[in-house]
Amino acid sequence: EKGGYDHFMLKEIYEQPNAIRDTYRGRLLADQGIIKMAGVDDNIERIAKANRILIVGCGTSWHAGLVAEYAFEDMARIPVEVEYASEFRYRNPVITEDDVVIAISQSGETADTMAAIKLAKEKGAFVFGVCNVVGSSISRETTAGAYTHAGPEIGVASTKAFTTQITVLTLMALKLGKYKGTISDSDFRFHLQALEAIPQKIESLLKSDKIIKEIAETYKDTRNCIYLGRGYNFPVALEGALKLKEISYIHAEGYPAAEMKHGPIALIDEEMPVVVIAVRKGHYEKVVSNIQEIKSRKGKIISLVTEGDTEVKEIADHVIEIPETIESFTPLLTTIPLQLLSYHIAVMLGKNVDQPRNLAKSVTVE
Ligand code: F6R
Repeated sequence: EKGGYDHFMLKEIYEQPNAIRDTYRGRLLADQGIIKMAGVDDNIERIAKANRILIVGCGTSWHAGLVAEYAFEDMARIPVEVEYASEFRYRNPVITEDDVVIAISQSGETADTMAAIKLAKEKGAFVFGVCNVVGSSISRETTAGAYTHAGPEIGVASTKAFTTQITVLTLMALKLGKYKGTISDSDFRFHLQALEAIPQKIESLLKSDKIIKEIAETYKDTRNCIYLGRGYNFPVALEGALKLKEISYIHAEGYPAAEMKHGPIALIDEEMPVVVIAVRKGHYEKVVSNIQEIKSRKGKIISLVTEGDTEVKEIADHVIEIPETIESFTPLLTTIPLQLLSYHIAVMLGKNVDQPRNLAKSVTVE
């Protein structure tokens, strides 16, 4: 049932091009220049007029929410807050009938997320669910929603659920932007075509697995690792670090690159590998100077760069090339090598990749 792969996680990483296609199929109609999403279409007024959008989730789903924050604000000009479901529910949050709450959950069974939804509903907010498991508790509790069509995710470490969540949320942001007129028609169409091209770009990216294995071999015995990114790729840095922690039990931290100088830079020495997402666009020059700062403190640099990049290549110890796309879609690509890196390290260390210690696939306790 692992389809010839050694682990479910690896199978699920490789399934991402098709999982994303399945997620946008019937919704993204690039030729006609429209996005169809029943759950959004039926409630478009309500969502587009929201005072703000509050996104709740846990773990990887919370990271997808952070990516969506950039997309909703950028494309639809709606203020967004992203909250850990567990913090939201215990803090007497200010929430009204004019708010829209988006709850993100792969399993649709996470207790903290469920409790956050119930609280938001009590306060009169409109609650929209983004779940992977059809008919799950959260999908039934929400007022409207859109499924990710990732197919069953068996590996405990979330992979294809994350990229399909980003796909659904990006489609929503684009659709709302089109409705509100905050994104031009030509820009909208340009985005649709670019999104449609993502699965093929992931396919080409999956071919860089050999380079990633070499990097894994070099750093598998490290005790610590730092991940840096900015803008749309800041949440990807968090997600990369979470993947490494979860399955290889190596301590890892994700930071917005510019926060380095406010503390974490003290950790840099010749023993510290630093994974830097430095794709062109999105504050590229600033990230390059962050890389120089790490280099001058003898940190080891593993960088993700746009294909054809020359500047970072000269400084970094290792580079992984990422196909070019619109800035807002780069998380769908930059996530892939980080999943593979943690996967290979965990396998090399002999860890139980699909069932890491102390973790369960759905967390139904609060
Ligand atoms: C990370 C992971 C967890 C889940 C989190 C939320 O790889 O699997 O952090 O993302 O427990 O789960 P769902 O999305 O099912 O609510």
